[in-house]
This record gives sequence, structure tokens and C-alpha cells, in this order.
Amino acid sequence: MSYAATLPWTLEKLDLSRIEIEKVRANEDLFLLLCSSSFVESGSDLYTHNLVDHFAGDDELQGWLRDHWEHEELQHGRALAAYVKHVWPEFDWDTGFRNFFAHYGSVCTAEELEPNRGLELAARCVVETGTASLYRALNDVTDEPVLRELTNLIKSDEVRHYKHFYQHFRVYRTRDRIGRLSTFRTLLKRLREIKNEDSDIALRHVFNVRYPEKAHDDAEFRRITARAEGLLKRHIPAEMTVKMLLRPLDLPPKLNAMLEWPLTRITEKLFLH
Ligand SMILES: [Fe+2]
Ligand SMILES: [Fe+2]
Repeated sequence: MSYAATLPWTLEKLDLSRIEIEKVRANEDLFLLLCSSSFVESGSDLYTHNLVDHFAGDDELQGWLRDHWEHEELQHGRALAAYVKHVWPEFDWDTGFRNFFAHYGSVCTAEELEPNRGLELAARCVVETGTASLYRALNDVTDEPVLRELTNLIKSDEVRHYKHFYQHFRVYRTRDRIGRLSTFRTLLKRLREIKNEDSDIALRHVFNVRYPEKAHDDAEFRRITARAEGLLKRHIPAEMTVKMLLRPLDLPPKLNAMLEWPLTRITEKLFLH
């Protein structure tokens, strides 16, 4: 079966020949961020399968995850990889991704999912908030037109994923009487986890292939990735991010306003070492 018909956009829509290479090629931070994102997205099928299994019995959600969400995430990976390969052809993307995939596969297990499926949906809202914010930040970082178009397309997909998980979360919340406190704990827990795993492993493997002579130099790895993540942090759309993070809590407006400040700080820390 071809999924192209159900995808909101396809890779062919991107005209790589229009890339204004001189606007991006010298930006090493952007290279690291785009390449690590291309690894994480291209490795999506490792955890999408876990998630599909987790929702056995919920045919509607399972169908969407399997037939739409997973394919869209993988397309993000393909599109980002195509962009990286076009602008930085000297980088051995395939080797880097192979190393990343082996490493990521060994740490990406079903145990990381919330046993309570409704809470896992709340956690997915955090993950999609993270990716939506990431691509909006990347969109803001660059003035290269093809990259702007690509990051905008991906961001829109991530926001739509968020909405889908959120709608399903609401159904589970009511049916399973999921409280605000457990939702809040889950959101915080997933916020902390996002930072440590996927992007860190991906950055490590981008770094090792990009700078083979420094592959075991942890200080240099931290310095280079902190610089790239600093760039991202300066462009994080904090307001959108916090709004999306708070929504699953369904708080009264006053309390919502009180929580905005600390959550903005946590959101910024997501991308810092
Ligand atoms: Fe994605
Ligand atoms: Fe997504």
C-alpha cells in the first residue's frame, strides 16, 4: 500500500535544487541540529512500534499511529536527511545513522512508556510539543528558503500530532478518571527525559562522524553541542511551548498563569546541557 496519498505533503514537493547553499553551509550549529534531528526522525520506527503495541485494543488510535503518524515521522527523517546530504555532501550520513540506530535501538524499549495509557498520551503531547518547538525554532534560525519551507511543513505536522494525541488524551482522562496531579507528574517526567536521550545520542553520533579525531573527547563534544543548543534555545518559541505543555492540565486560568513562568524555564533547559 502506498501512503503517499495520505501524507499531507511529500518529499517531491521539496525542490532541493533551489537551496541557497551559501546561506547555510557555513553554519556548523545548524548542521549539527539538522543532522541530529534527521537521525531521530529516521529512527522513529523503533519507538512507533512500541507505541502501536501499547495501544492494542484501541483500533482507532492504533490505526492512526500505524497508518499516518509513523509515516509522517519517517518522512521528516527522509526530508531532513535529503537536505543535509545536499548541503553537506562530505558528511557520511549513512555511517552516522547506522551507528546511531544501533545505539538508539538498544536503549529504546517498551518499558519507557507510561503503563497508564492515558498518561502516555499526555507524555506524547510533551514529545510533540518538543518537536513542534524545535522546528519552529529552526525555522526562525534560518533565512534559507527551502529550509524555511521544510521546517514549516514539519512543524505543522508536529502540531497536528500534538492535537491528535491531546484529543485522545481527553477521552482517556474522562473515562479513566486521570487526575491533574498524575498528569502534571507525567508531563514533568517526560520533559526531563526528552533532553537526555534521543537528541543526545543523535548528537553524539553526528559528532563522532563529523570529528573522528575528537570522537572520544567528551569536553569537546559538550562544547560543540552546547553551542548548537544555545542557538536553538535563543529561538525557542517559549509562549507556544508553554501553552501546549499546560493544555493537558486543563487548569483554571489563574493557576495556569502562575505556572507559566517556571515551565518556561524548564522548556528552555530542554535544549541546554
Ligand atoms: Fe517528526
Ligand atoms: Fe510528531
